[in-house]
Amino acid sequence: MSEALANLLSETRQFPPPAELAAHANVTIDAYAEAEGDRLAFWAKQADRLAWSKKWDEVLDWSNPPFAKWFVGGQLNVAYNCLDRHVEAGRGDKVAIHWEGEPGDTRTITYADLHELTCRAANALTDLGVTAGDRVAIYLPMIPEAAVAMLACARIGAAHSVVFGGFSADSLSNRIQDASAKVVITADGGYRRGKPSALKPTVDEAVANCPSVDHVLVVRRTGEEVAWSEKDLWWHETVETASAEHTAQPFDAEHPLFILYTSGTTARPKGILHTTGGYLTQASYTANAVFDLKPETDVYWCTADIGWVTGHSYIVYGPLSNGVTQVMYEGTPDTPHKGRFWDIVEKYRVSILYTAPTLIRTMMKWGEDIPAGHDLSSLRLLGSVGEPINPEAWMWYREHIGGGALPVVDTWWQTETGAIMISPLPGVTAAKPGSAMTPLPGIVADVVDDQGQSVPNGGGGYLVLREPWPSMLRTIWGDDERFIDTYWSRFEGMYFAGDGAKKDDDGHIWLLGRVDDVMLVSGHNISTTEVESALVSHPSVAEAAVVGATDPTTGQAIVAFAIPRGSTDITGDAGEQLIADLRNHVSKTLGPIAKPRQIMLVPELPKTRSGKIMRRLLRDVAENRSLGDVTTLQDSSVMDLISSGMTGAK
Ligand code: WT7
Repeated sequence: MSEALANLLSETRQFPPPAELAAHANVTIDAYAEAEGDRLAFWAKQADRLAWSKKWDEVLDWSNPPFAKWFVGGQLNVAYNCLDRHVEAGRGDKVAIHWEGEPGDTRTITYADLHELTCRAANALTDLGVTAGDRVAIYLPMIPEAAVAMLACARIGAAHSVVFGGFSADSLSNRIQDASAKVVITADGGYRRGKPSALKPTVDEAVANCPSVDHVLVVRRTGEEVAWSEKDLWWHETVETASAEHTAQPFDAEHPLFILYTSGTTARPKGILHTTGGYLTQASYTANAVFDLKPETDVYWCTADIGWVTGHSYIVYGPLSNGVTQVMYEGTPDTPHKGRFWDIVEKYRVSILYTAPTLIRTMMKWGEDIPAGHDLSSLRLLGSVGEPINPEAWMWYREHIGGGALPVVDTWWQTETGAIMISPLPGVTAAKPGSAMTPLPGIVADVVDDQGQSVPNGGGGYLVLREPWPSMLRTIWGDDERFIDTYWSRFEGMYFAGDGAKKDDDGHIWLLGRVDDVMLVSGHNISTTEVESALVSHPSVAEAAVVGATDPTTGQAIVAFAIPRGSTDITGDAGEQLIADLRNHVSKTLGPIAKPRQIMLVPELPKTRSGKIMRRLLRDVAENRSLGDVTTLQDSSVMDLISSGMTGAK
């Protein structure tokens, strides 16, 4: 990446941790030096936060890279670590999950309850013939049974493969087939946008093409009528009647824990494999370090779906292994009204909130009056994950959700990394809006140029990881070659994350999006993220997406799509005026090289189900092509909405 990129950044605001938080933080600045002194000893110490049945012989075996073995020879049970040990320590009555259904029904589940449910599910799965090493597919809404199903698999050593409930029958059946899952755990449906949304028909269609599946376990959630076949069993007749006595067996540290498929925008999904000891060590440590979890007093809420890795590491394994109380919410943020999240924060006195930039920008669009009408005084820490967070969205989050005082931790990681890798430490780091700041203790990340050379401060390039880490993916399920090709072949001896990044003058890391999202304009590399951030920094813009469109003169030209904030008038000349203002605003903020050729004002942006902008479709619009595959869109009508509501189209 070139100088043009290096010159774009001008963010200078910086926010030190609140004194009170810093004074009592779980992790202090010493952790960095400690890990630098002896990285493996540092991780061994974090592994010791868990209960092991058998201690490891060696922390890391890296004799056959990129195939890592962590805590070699050690044995443990993940579910025991998340449940039994809290119950045995007398904390069984502590609430594990305050669950809130979308229609407003609630369940309060203690650690003892969760332990009992998990034991019953473990016994039921065993009765159905599931044994250690088998795979179980989970296709559930955000109900407590999702966590129970995952923990039950972990308890008996079966790898779970959770498939997000929004995926189609085809996607589900591909994933079931790829892992040869024996059992599928699903529900009749869940609640979304105020009504039942069926899941079972999708499973029926998928399972018809999956000979590996012997049984389908069905949770009754909506009570809607479902078709029934000889493979189907009701959860309440199978799990809830099974014995509540179950002794967890220890498994090898490298025993598979789960497979989670990442949906690339083009290629066949990759089954990312995570194993037991290293994964739990880092998920547990990072939850404790980055969210400063205080199990006695905190109420933690991660708004992700369990179908994504965020739900795996920061709803199930990280928080539960730390024994914290958390909130789990089934539905959408605007059902029955746009203040639902803040109702939940107020009701459960949530103290730590972990959410995604796409949601923060949506909240910005809805306006600050909505959170302002709620008592958010219980909050003490805010987190963000999933995409680069634009500085303005970061500021809005701190200002309007955090009362202008709370630390915001922007956490960079991936399905592949298993746990948070780059993030501020809330009691240590003076965070800059929009920067993930520094690698966590024990993590060695860098930004390198095309040749794999470390770039100096102020330079931009590719984000890499230079040393193995405990929760790293072990391979792509069934495809070691693809694992090597995808992650370990671009730069010798380094893990290539696929993200562009830069180091600022202080050496802090700024993520710039996937490298495929970098535009080449008149020979200059310009990141879509930076132009988007410039647009969002204008008071009339709520959200923006930028793509590079083929241009006869400049190679690629910048084309932007912007959603105006709620009250902005964009009718007639006002729309044209705003577009002109925005082009000048970007030019002034980032330099003339980054001035968009064209800006279109739109009511919505196309997003994947995990909230990432599908720039591929916007590129089709920008280049006047018919649209490519729209099946991974969260809302398939959004592209019609965009073409019909566009201001500024030529
Ligand atoms: C990709 C991984 C990690 C859980 C959710 C996404 C982007 C993620 C950040 C961040 C900038 C981020 C990257 C990464 N990403 N967090 N804080 N700042 N970009 O998991 O679906 O595997 O996606 O999400 O591009 O490579 P995922």
